[in-house]
Parts: sequence; C-alpha cells; structure tokens
Amino acid sequence: MLAAPNAPPPELVAALRAARFVAVLTGAGVSAESGVPTFRDAQTGLWSKFDPRELATPSAFARNPKRVWDWYAMRRAMVGRAAPNPAHTALAELERRVPEFVLLTQNVDGLHQRAGSIRVVELHGNITQVRCSREGTRVAQWDDSDDAPPRCAACGAFLRPDVVWFEEMLPDDALEAAEDAATRCDVLLVVGTSAEVYPAAALPAIARRRGAQVVEINPDTTPLTAQADHVLHGPAGVVLPALVAAAWSGSGMATQRGYSGGAPFLPD
Ligand code: APR
Repeated sequence: MLAAPNAPPPELVAALRAARFVAVLTGAGVSAESGVPTFRDAQTGLWSKFDPRELATPSAFARNPKRVWDWYAMRRAMVGRAAPNPAHTALAELERRVPEFVLLTQNVDGLHQRAGSIRVVELHGNITQVRCSREGTRVAQWDDSDDAPPRCAACGAFLRPDVVWFEEMLPDDALEAAEDAATRCDVLLVVGTSAEVYPAAALPAIARRRGAQVVEINPDTTPLTAQADHVLHGPAGVVLPALVAAAWSGSGMATQRGYSGGAPFLPD
C-alpha cells in the first residue's frame, strides 16, 4: 500500500504500536494552534516582546509585584479563553491506546487536562492556580480588583501565580516523575519545545541513553533535532493526529482537522 507523502515513517508507527510505555514532553508549541503564544518564536513569542527578567523571576516579583501579577492575570485570562486543539486531543487519545503513558508538560495552561489527558505532570506549575508567596499554600479564591497583588488571608503576604519562575527549582515530585519516565519509556515524543530550558531539555538525552526512541515534532529545528531518532516537521495539530491515526487506523479514531481516519494510508 502506498503511503501519503506526509505519512509518518512506518518504522515509527510500528514502534509506537509496540511500545509498552510512551512518554511525551510538550512545550509551548503544542498550544500555539490554540492561540496561546510561545516564548521564543521570533515574531510572536512572548520573550520577543517582554523581558523575562522583569516578569518571570523572584527578584522581578520582589521589585514590582503589581507588574508581575498583572502580566500573569492577563495571561490567565487569555488561557481561559483558549480551547484545546487537535494536538492536545490526539495526545489524550494516545494515552487511551498504550499500556503505560505519561505526559510531561512545561506548559502552565492546563489545556492537556481540558482535552482529556489524565497522567499529566506539570513541570512548570499551572497559571490558573495561585499560592501564597511566603508559605506556598494554594488559594482557591482571590480578589483581583485591588492595585497590588491580593494578599494571603492567613499570613498577609502577597499571592503569586503557581508557576515556576527562572532561578526557581522545579517541584521535586514532578522532576522525579519526569526522570523516571525518561528512564523507563520505550518512545519519547518531544512536541513543540525549543529544547533550550533545563532541566526539561535534558530528558530526551536521558531517554535515548536508556534505549528509547526519541521523536521530535516541531515545524522548526532545535538543539534536539540532530539527536532525535525521528523528526516530524510540522505543526503539532496536524502531525500528532496523523501519527496516532496511522498507528491505530481502523480502530475508531475520531476524524480530526487535516486528515480523516485512515486516510494517511490510502494511495493518492
Ligand atoms: N506545533 C509544534 N511546535 C510549534 C508550533 C506548532 N504549531 N508552533 C511553534 N512551535 C515550536 C517552535 O518552533 C519552538 O521550537 O514550539 C517551540 C516553542 O519554544 P519556546 O517558545 O521556547 O517554548 P518552550 O520550549 O515550552 O519553553 C520552555 O521556557 O520561558 C520558559 O517557562 C517557559 O515553559 C517555558 C520554557
């Protein structure tokens, strides 16, 4: 049977079908088609317009808590208006297909969970949550109307977004789960990340050393591209549904944007 020109490589499709444990590492690119901006894309990335040292560090928050709070409040509102795209949906579908699965995400937007993914490890926190900047206690409700960031009802310290800033450590349990997955998985899909921010950027090399196949899905090249076993160049919202459909064609995959059911297998 002929494969369509952009069909995923058959050996990758076979590896995915045979895998007992699939891990996925996602970055901002997986949410780009939901309208959530990435960080490092040249024209549209947040860090091309904003200085991360003024917005995403503990010292920035100490210097100007209102500016940092307002910037995250703006992004929280934007994420609230966004909806999962076919890339998120395909990953939720993939989780239902394989015996063991974990999705490690650097994203803070919660879109994977909203698409139906269950085993999600948030490496950089979640922008929809807020915690006390002193005690770390999560707070369910806060008042956004004041000038400054709202205060913790228990201790009076400022509340802050529940995300990991530059110069901060990742949560221990998230990092442990990520390293465990990289060590044990058979296939690691690396989707929509510039692979520049550590420790997440170290996970593909760990997986490769332990014998996993590493697959990069990204329209651009990254420092990982040369090391990956397979590189699928293209937007995640097109590539991922096609990959999952190719691996499980004929087993009831829903039709997604950009392809239909088993279509990638049919001769042109
Ligand atoms: N599909 C797949 N990948 C895409 C798409 C798309 N539709 N659009 C863009 N990309 C790719 C870009 O080519 C780029 O390689 O997504 C990547 C986004 O990279 P970054 O903006 O650097 O995002 P990320 O890798 O998640 O950044 C890591 O940096 O600032 C911190 O805490 C922030 O979690 C973030 C971390």
